[in-house]
Amino acid sequence: MLLVAGGAGFIGSNIVDDWLGNTSEPIINIDKLTYAGNLKNLAQALQSERHYFVKADIADIHAILHVLAKYRPRAILNFAAESHVDRSIKDPDGFIQTNIVGAYRLLKAALAYWSHVSADRQASFRFLQVSTDEVFGSLGEADPPFSETTAYAPNNPYAASKAAADHMARAFRSTYGLPILTINCSNNYGPRQFPEKLIPLVIHNAFNDRPIPVYGNGRNVRDWLYVADHCSAIPAVPRWCAPTSRPRGRRGARRSGARPFAWRLLNQNPPQGRPRRLAARVPSDRRRSQR
Ligand SMILES: NC(=O)c1ccc[n+]([C@@H]2O[C@H](COP(=O)([O-])OP(=O)(O)OC[C@H]3O[C@@H](n4cnc5c(N)ncnc54)[C@H](O)[C@@H]3O)[C@@H](O)[C@H]2O)c1
Repeated sequence: MLLVAGGAGFIGSNIVDDWLGNTSEPIINIDKLTYAGNLKNLAQALQSERHYFVKADIADIHAILHVLAKYRPRAILNFAAESHVDRSIKDPDGFIQTNIVGAYRLLKAALAYWSHVSADRQASFRFLQVSTDEVFGSLGEADPPFSETTAYAPNNPYAASKAAADHMARAFRSTYGLPILTINCSNNYGPRQFPEKLIPLVIHNAFNDRPIPVYGNGRNVRDWLYVADHCSAIPAVPRWCAPTSRPRGRRGARRSGARPFAWRLLNQNPPQGRPRRLAARVPSDRRRSQR
């Protein structure tokens, strides 16, 4: 049994489908169903007898402890988060609550559960904290890509809240020995992404003759990772890695996937709306890239 937190969102629902489709293992899926979570994302999973859905907040430690005691998972994958940078700039409160307090409470519940399972189950248990490359900030044109040794330098409240959770996860591993892995992947794109995120927003606006948002001077650089590629790698992470390592999402489709795909769509349906530069108060990292 695997516990997925945030499994009704974009990446979480893709991993749930991937897991149900490619393994025989059951999943308990915990999600608060914020604006970003949607049971429609789980249309396929909800048909499966191996998928159990519980509407709960990761910050509700009693609810989480109850689920852990009932389902006794061998691993926890935490995708639950407030995830949109622009929202975090307008109002960071929800980001502090879920990404820091919520992540901490989930770790605390996991530790309480893990401390009372058998030695064998303790040894094989894994907690996967899904983080982001945003915690490393912005690269200059000549800087080498992010690597396992890059220092944290978050530049917005979303990134800072994710960095705080990474540090807390690391502290739980070092202090209590809870077997935690953290992945810091680059931008994902693909089906079910909420249309506030760049690629679906650009496509949506282009098809509806609305202005296309431009961040900074329009020359920002990102690595793009197709969500199915991300999901196909995740199941292997808890098996391969010693819980002290800090695996990263590999360089995504910076040149080969997302941008050409979006360009093809836009070329086929040239937007009537003019590009619109975002107001200066929405800062954006100039360049993010991974080795
Ligand atoms: N999408 C990306 O490009 C990207 C890139 C790097 C890292 N990440 C990280 O991956 C994870 C998933 O991202 P996503 O794009 O799928 O996010 P998302 O916003 O699409 O989904 C987040 C899910 O978490 C749920 N949730 C929010 N607060 C919760 C709470 N307190 N308790 C329980 N559930 C809660 C939401 O209802 C939603 O279903 C996040 O941790 C994010 O930081 C995302």
